[in-house]
Parts: sequence; structure tokens; C-alpha cells
Amino acid sequence: MNIYDVYSLYDVTPVKGKGPYVYDESGTEYLDFYGGHAVISIGHSHPHYINAITDQLEQIAFYSNSVNNPLQQELADKLEAISQVKGYDLFLINSGAEANDNALKLASFYNGRKSILALTNSFHGRTSAAINVTHTGRKHQAPINHGAEVVYCDHENLEEIIKEVKSGHHACIIIEGIQGVGGLDMIDPSYLQDIRKACDESDTILIMDEVQCGYGRSGQFFSFQSADIRPDIITTAKGMGNGFPVSGVLIDPIKMPAVKSRLGTTYGGNHLACAASIAVLEVIREENLVHNAKTLGAQLKSALAQLPYVTNVKGAGLMMGLELEFAIKSLRKDLIFKHQLFTGSSTNPNLLRLLPPLNINQGHVDQFLEKLSAGLKSI
Ligand SMILES: Cc1ncc(COP(=O)(O)O)c(C=O)c1O
Repeated sequence: MNIYDVYSLYDVTPVKGKGPYVYDESGTEYLDFYGGHAVISIGHSHPHYINAITDQLEQIAFYSNSVNNPLQQELADKLEAISQVKGYDLFLINSGAEANDNALKLASFYNGRKSILALTNSFHGRTSAAINVTHTGRKHQAPINHGAEVVYCDHENLEEIIKEVKSGHHACIIIEGIQGVGGLDMIDPSYLQDIRKACDESDTILIMDEVQCGYGRSGQFFSFQSADIRPDIITTAKGMGNGFPVSGVLIDPIKMPAVKSRLGTTYGGNHLACAASIAVLEVIREENLVHNAKTLGAQLKSALAQLPYVTNVKGAGLMMGLELEFAIKSLRKDLIFKHQLFTGSSTNPNLLRLLPPLNINQGHVDQFLEKLSAGLKSI
């Protein structure tokens, strides 16, 4: 049986990871400033993470959601304490797209509306509801998606967004605080405040997709916290499990008390997923990683701006986009194979996406800058 050929691959085979490094089968060390697509939040093979998962595996790995699992409540309590996002209910599932699918359903259950508002350059996942609102993935929509009612507003045009929200026609608006796949544009915090008000006036649900920009990556626990707003629903995944497949929907119970029984999952919130996610939160707290992302991210941003060929540095914290004068495709390949550095791309062909683990230090940043400068020299 062959593996279904979905991705175009780089010919490199990581077999081991430690902190911000991965190693291939011949022992070559690569600096990981991609984080496996923003997933590695606390570094590869963190000892606390390994111990927590190993201990849990020796107790019980899985049982269904038809019995008590106190680890879910422990995870919810720790998430509330560390994020300081209070008074939400947590629904646990397995991936970012699944979190967004559930969020979109909840919004539609709540106000009975069918239409969804999303933004240009958005990416919310590949499952059937999430792909409907993924502007960057319209070519991946199958005929079964074609009846969906979705309106895309220009992500830089507040007036257009507010007009649509106020129409009262849409179940919800779904927004990434910092766009990931779409190229690191940030939604202005003042826009978010205006959108929040318009949602209140029109009984439209505000969903913040924090799948990529959440969990400390932006230098806030959730990126929308810089706007001081309260979303109705928050979705989270990636950094939440540091590689263990887990995601969450944080739901404001004041708005949505009645629809709980309409959601469900087999694997979501299982014992191992909870143990992994609790360990991640403990490391984020113990190592002060949200603060680290903020301070180191600011230093990295100013250092990046000094490099040759740079036209713009986008993003916040340790979620950064380096826009260059040329397409980055061959640079990215050279960085892997000649300089042993992993970086990411986006739908903007000139933008290198940087998503390192949140516990990198100054030494790792210096090493990254050396490798990147060497790569730029040979352009
Ligand atoms: C902002 C955002 N939302 C949702 C998703 C989908 O997550 P998953 O691939 O876990 O389904 C992604 C994945 O890149 C993402 O960046």
C-alpha cells in the first residue's frame, strides 16, 4: 500500500528532536524555526512533557467521553489560570479544522443563521465547514462545499467588515488575530473592538481562530488579548499539544447554554491528550514563555529589519513573516540543505514564515541570524 500522495516533500527525515533542534538519520542537526508548522511550542522532547505522557500511558491512555475524566477539568482550570481568559467552557477535540467546524456549528445553532463572514487571506482548515471559510484554499473546495453561504470581506477594509456584520445576515464572523498561511497580516486591535461592537448590535457570533497565533506565540497568550475584547468563541490547537493531536473550543456559556448536547467526539479530551496539554501549560508557566515570545520576538524583529533584501517584517512575538525582494522558494530549500535551518512559507511567495519553539534563547536567535545571513549571501 502506498501513502496517498498529498504533500510535496523535502527529502529530509527527522528521527529525533531536542529543544529547537531536529536530527536526521545520519545525525545532522537542523535548527527548527518552523516548529513543524507552529506546533512545537515548548521545544522537541521537553523532559517534563515526556514524563507527563509516559506517566499517563502507564495509568490509562484512553477511555470514552461517556465516563468521568478529571484531567479535562484540570486542563480547563490551568488554561483559564494561565491565559487569564475567564468564564469560558472548554470543548476538547483533535485538530484545528475540527475546532473551527464545531465553532461554526455552534454559531449557527445559536442564532439559526446560515451565512458565515470570513476575511480575505484567511486559513481555517480543510474539513467541510472550515474549508468553506478558507479564502486561501478555495481551490481545495469540492462540489459538496459549493452551496455554502460565505461572504469574504477584505481583511484591511474595516468599513466593509462592519457593514456586513451589522446586516444581521451572518451567523458569525471568523477571524485569525494574526493570519498564518495567508501571510502574517495582523488585524488591527482597534478593528477588533469595532467588530466586537457590531457583533453585539447584530447578534452575530465573534469567533477568534487562535489555532496558529494562540498559546503564547504572539507574545500574548491569545493574540486578541492585545485588543482587550471578549470573543464569543475561541479556537485553539497546534501549540496546545506540542505535537500531540489536540484542540479546543472555548465557548462563552452566557451566549450558548442550550446547544451543548449537539456536539460530540470519540477521541477528543482523552487522557493522553489531556496529560500532554497540561504538561505544555505547566512548561509555558514555569519557563515564562509568553514573556519570552514577546521580548525575544521584539529583538528578532529589529534584527531581521537590518538584513539585506528585506522589504517588510510582519507579525508579533515568535510568529513572524520576513518579506523579501524576491520569491523565497529556493532560499528556503538552501536554508534546509546548505545551512540546516527549517523555515516556513505562506501564500505570499516572497514571505519566509518563522515559527520557532517559544523557549528559544538569544543563542538560538543568533544562530538563526547567522544561518539566514549565510543563505542570503549566496543568493
Ligand atoms: C489559523 C489556522 N486555523 C486552522 C488550521 C487547521 O488546523 P489543522 O491542520 O490542525 O486542522 C490551521 C492550520 O494551519 C491554521 O493555521
